Amino acid sequence: MTQGRKIVVETRDLNVSISGCDVLKDINLRILENSFTGLIGPNGGGKTTLLRTLLGLIPPDRGEVRIEGKLLGTGRRRTWIMGYVPQQIRVDRRFPLSVLDAVVMGRYGRIGLGRRAGRTDREIALDCLDRVGLAHLARVRIGDLSGGEQQRVFIARALSASPKVLILDEPTAAVDVAAQDSFYRLLQELRQAYSLTVVMATHDIGIVPIYCDAIACLNRTLHLHGRPEEILKNEVFKKLYGTEVEVVMHGKIPHRMIGGHHHD
Ligand SMILES: Nc1ncnc2c1ncn2[C@@H]1O[C@H](COP(=O)(O)OP(=O)(O)OP(=O)(O)O)[C@@H](O)[C@H]1O
Ligand SMILES: [Mg+2]
Repeated sequence: MTQGRKIVVETRDLNVSISGCDVLKDINLRILENSFTGLIGPNGGGKTTLLRTLLGLIPPDRGEVRIEGKLLGTGRRRTWIMGYVPQQIRVDRRFPLSVLDAVVMGRYGRIGLGRRAGRTDREIALDCLDRVGLAHLARVRIGDLSGGEQQRVFIARALSASPKVLILDEPTAAVDVAAQDSFYRLLQELRQAYSLTVVMATHDIGIVPIYCDAIACLNRTLHLHGRPEEILKNEVFKKLYGTEVEVVMHGKIPHRMIGGHHHD
């Protein structure tokens, strides 16, 4: 199944509890280099918890996380290999920070605490802003941007540290439906431009088979994990999502049909 590709992120029998509640149980996950994994599942299923555990922000009760084969120790801060765009960031309008400065902050993990960002850091940050199409807003106060634009600033911030893995938690929550497609195309471009491995939690089930090359269905345990073609055919997937979304494969490109819609 790994087809000789390198495993970048791996969990082994990962168990996580928060405030005494079991949130993740026996998660065995393998993320391959340059893959784009869609992490789906119901609200409260543990997606954010899993992503934060992969980043080293939540210590597991049992089991382990390995990044490029190296054990991620409990309580240890994540490394710059992993870029993170958290769920629902919304910056207060009055927050006195320019868009460019927000992106430069992503460099601090690289520069080291206590050292000032230099010209190169600002150039890299501006380049990342340009990549997400927001270079013209570099001097604007970040709080004045729309939710969708702020989301792209935070992607640029994560990219500015030159990560190998980009972790996104519901990045399209603030993006309107019409803009979703261009957002996912942007992600594809970034993935190629920076040779990224992407892991994204999302509720856009219809989008996942189109853009992702792996799907992981999480609801406390990992129900399914594999290539979209295999997952979509799977009876468990049909049971989990069949009532709301019917996924039909037309050749290699799957199309989503909302329940009740019939078409050749
Ligand atoms: N600090 C906490 N104390 C108690 N329970 C918590 C805490 N943080 C998270 N949980 C619980 O952990 C479970 C998993 O939450 P998580 O945020 O990982 O789910 P999710 O799949 O990301 O959901 P969503 O799709 O709504 O973002 C939830 O039932 C949540 O209530
Ligand atoms: Mg979440």
